[in-house]
Amino acid sequence: MAPLINDFTPAKDWDNANFVHPWEGMEDIGNNSRTFAESAHGIYITTETGAKLLDGPAGMWCMQLGYGNGEIADAMAEQARSLAYFSPFNNSNSASARLAHEIAQRTPGDLNRVFFTTGGSTAVDTALRFIWFRNNVLGRPEKKRIISRQKAYHGSTHLAASVSGKERDKGWLDQMDIAHFLPNVNPFVRPNGMSIDTFLDEKIADLENAILELGPDTVAAFIAEPVLASGGVIVPPKGYHKRCLEICRKYDVLYISDEVVTGFGRLGHWFASEDEFGIVPDIITCAKGMTAGYAPMGACIISDALIDSISGDASQGATFSNGYTFSGHPVSAAAALKTIEIFDRDNLLDHVQSIAPLFQSRLRSLMDLPIVVDARGVGLVGAIECSLGGTGAEKLERDYVVGGRIDARCQELGLLVRPIINMCVFSPPLISTEDEINKIFDLLEQGVRLATQDLKADGLM
Ligand SMILES: Cc1ncc(COP(=O)(O)O)c(C=O)c1O
Repeated sequence: MAPLINDFTPAKDWDNANFVHPWEGMEDIGNNSRTFAESAHGIYITTETGAKLLDGPAGMWCMQLGYGNGEIADAMAEQARSLAYFSPFNNSNSASARLAHEIAQRTPGDLNRVFFTTGGSTAVDTALRFIWFRNNVLGRPEKKRIISRQKAYHGSTHLAASVSGKERDKGWLDQMDIAHFLPNVNPFVRPNGMSIDTFLDEKIADLENAILELGPDTVAAFIAEPVLASGGVIVPPKGYHKRCLEICRKYDVLYISDEVVTGFGRLGHWFASEDEFGIVPDIITCAKGMTAGYAPMGACIISDALIDSISGDASQGATFSNGYTFSGHPVSAAAALKTIEIFDRDNLLDHVQSIAPLFQSRLRSLMDLPIVVDARGVGLVGAIECSLGGTGAEKLERDYVVGGRIDARCQELGLLVRPIINMCVFSPPLISTEDEINKIFDLLEQGVRLATQDLKADGLM
């Protein structure tokens, strides 16, 4: 299909003059030269110059079924024609009700109550508001503190950002003082000589000590991504989530599993909480892959037990005054229903499980490259962490260069990666074939080698 605008000069100008992007760096605002994604098919996007790039991060970890999926497009168009909108405050709609039912069929335990949101941040926001609301209804308004973790990312609403623990994002924006942050759970940063088991014991003790120090009567919930995604694909030691849940149960602290990235197939399961990590949390938040990236939507999925504890005679007449104009939007619901149908029909979860070992072994073989100091991941998500050596401020300065350099070289070679400081993360569309996985890693390896040469030439290593 021909691009909408053949001459990209005005679009580039409009982008700089009028489009404020997420995480906009104020030093460069108005002077950026972003790559424009103009069309896409399968796992490739085409840029404004006609370059074809393999989409390593699947958009923003969301394009589970790749691009140009006619079945989803048709389902959305049909829904838009028959009913483009209903007010979830006053009415309901069969597409959205059916989606809630289909999701409840796939969640662990009694996680059967689906509150639709507009994305991941609003799903987390809703989870926090619900937990606070419940404690108000239960007559314990002081039980409000949230325990989160360093490197966690839970979103960009004020509440979700306030429980996010990425240091770099805290510098210039205010956070509310609602959360306590546990130390990094990345086994890679454990002290030299410490075993994984000892590290795990330490991380569990961090949680228990925090609850005891804050006082169990003041702690409402623990929030955790099963795999800390944008914090650098951090996979906690085996058994971590189970033991955290046990601690939470011991002190009547609720467990929110933020599956915005891990939900909908990324790890080869509908949800990773139980199937990969053996836990049934109290709340699961999800978004992104839920519509395969074709429409904005998220969900805060709450257990029957939580709802039942404050409903009917126990409700005190309370109303959960939280919601969005677009909660359960029917066009998004149609995209999500079609996504679920395709996952089932094409056995996509099995496919992910069958290609994940190749993905993970190719990922780990990148450790042979001199600047790669760690390669980690699970399912179809992975990251490499690089180091150019040095210590303190000097190391930090170099770290900030390396991800961008790899990204630049990979783009020249036809691969999009997502650089995060000294890391590159990738989470390709779930439909990727073995050949495509091999291609991703062939290109990445080449990109890292070329970037290493550049860095040497520039005297940065
Ligand atoms: C784990 C997690 N939670 C929440 C969010 C926020 O989702 P959204 O950007 O859809 O608001 C993200 C986004 O990357 C995420 O990775």
